[in-house]
Amino acid sequence: MLPKKVEQYLNKQINAEFFSAYLYLSMGAYLNEISLFGFANWMRMQYEEEKFHAMKMLDYLLDRGGKLELKSIAKPKHKWKNIIDVFEDVLAHEQQITQSINELVSLSMDQRDHATVNFLQWFVDEQVEEEANVSDLLAQLKLVGGKGSGLFMLDREAAQRKFTEPAQ
Ligand code: FEO
Repeated sequence: MLPKKVEQYLNKQINAEFFSAYLYLSMGAYLNEISLFGFANWMRMQYEEEKFHAMKMLDYLLDRGGKLELKSIAKPKHKWKNIIDVFEDVLAHEQQITQSINELVSLSMDQRDHATVNFLQWFVDEQVEEEANVSDLLAQLKLVGGKGSGLFMLDREAAQRKFTEPAQ
């Protein structure tokens, strides 16, 4: 049986994952507006990934007999100064998600809910990868000063990003 507190926190985290999807969709629209079409694609793939995270957690909640409580999704920010500003926000957001996943792991441990602790390991690993990818990209954007031919090259690389559902 899923402990009540874990159920509540999983519902909260499902909302946070859907909010992440919404935020990346908004960032993608901004990048499209400033003609960084490759980075707009990168954000679209990030949106797909966040939807996958939300659904993975939602399915787990239901599999454990938990009650799903879908909450309102907050309105995301929709204006940034430039591409570096966008990726600084992405990194800060992912760091915050990492923190909330860690809190969820700690809560599941306190509740002796070993199945949830085990389930969350995938998310713990995923956050390490997400933060590493984003901070590398942010460092490269800063290296080229967020403009010119360097930015053009990075945008072309970002256009290659695809989303494939990870094997379960
Ligand atoms: Fe679902 Fe980007 O963490």
